Amino acid sequence: MPSLATDVVFKLNNGKTIPALGLGTVSATDPRDVKDQVITAVKAGYRHIDTAWYYGTEKYIGEALKELFDEGIVKREELFITTKVWPSFWHSPEKSVDQSLQDLGLDYVDLVLQHWPVALHGDENGQPPAPKDKDGNLIYDDDPATGTKFIETYNKLEDLVEHTTKVKSIGISNYSIPKYRTLLPHIKKHKPVVNQIEYHPQLPQQELVEYFQNQGILIAAYSPVGSDGAPVVKLPLIQKLAEKYGVSTNEIADAYHILQGRIVLPRSSNLQRIKSIIGLPQLTKEELDELYQIGAQNPKRYITDEWGYGIGFKWWTGDTLSKVFD
Ligand SMILES: NC(=O)c1ccc[n+]([C@@H]2O[C@H](COP(=O)([O-])OP(=O)(O)OC[C@H]3O[C@@H](n4cnc5c(N)ncnc54)[C@H](OP(=O)(O)O)[C@@H]3O)[C@@H](O)[C@H]2O)c1
Repeated sequence: MPSLATDVVFKLNNGKTIPALGLGTVSATDPRDVKDQVITAVKAGYRHIDTAWYYGTEKYIGEALKELFDEGIVKREELFITTKVWPSFWHSPEKSVDQSLQDLGLDYVDLVLQHWPVALHGDENGQPPAPKDKDGNLIYDDDPATGTKFIETYNKLEDLVEHTTKVKSIGISNYSIPKYRTLLPHIKKHKPVVNQIEYHPQLPQQELVEYFQNQGILIAAYSPVGSDGAPVVKLPLIQKLAEKYGVSTNEIADAYHILQGRIVLPRSSNLQRIKSIIGLPQLTKEELDELYQIGAQNPKRYITDEWGYGIGFKWWTGDTLSKVFD
């Protein structure tokens, strides 16, 4: 393995490649800050940017890309850009992709993910992204646990990759095994290349990961330090390994994935942190197993959004729908 995470590239099941380290672009405070984060990352060697229509940051990523292209720092074909179609746009994924392309200032994206395998009740512009009834419950267009409209979205993404030049590859996000099993017989031609899920040493998902790896689908780990507050970097074993290898705790958290063939998507509003977390410490198999054991013994999911209820994941706080899959 190379000594820099920015030098690792994985092969996708359609023959294309993806850089292992991607910059996350959820905005913590002001979405305009993401412009400098992207510029900093690309100058430091990142070649993969992970975004989504839902994040509201694509316009600022577009400004960053224009500057990077105009200054000759990087060419479009050297970058890998991922966007996602939000469930309130489930009926019109091409419109969502068109909006993302316009904001990003691009002719194509390298990868489009179906953000969640559910259908929320959005209008033709995907508004509102989180529709609620008078009791504060999400309004769906079909049952989140047993509905099949999410399959239509995936099939429309297949049409995009097959019949347009807007999208190079398609993939999925937040798919559990039951959801993928429901989709599988309906895939027309284009298997997903990636499943993006929350994953870090505190969230053991061995069964899920092995299932998707056996399907030839790469796992991309979001929230690699457990999102806001970065609880994962406070784990004593992560700190011990950082000291042993003379690297940051973030680099241990990222190496946990990259060394095991998973894409990792860290996010930071701290430009110094973005620049400095590109090392790839060569953890041993025993150390990787020890990290896995943390979550096997004390599992913790940090992203427990309502749109994840009932879709077949374990440890989703507040979930009242997953019993369907028991
Ligand atoms: N597909 C999906 O549904 C989905 C869901 C969630 C996320 N994602 C993707 O994954 C990306 C990353 O996930 P995430 O945003 O949840 O978060 P993350 O990368 O796990 O955590 C980022 C947070 O941790 C903090 N942090 C990082 N290192 C730290 C350290 N050493 N000490 C203290 N604080 C530290 C950052 O603060 P600073 O800003 O101060 O560095 C930031 O608040 C997202 O941006 C997005 O692209 C996808």
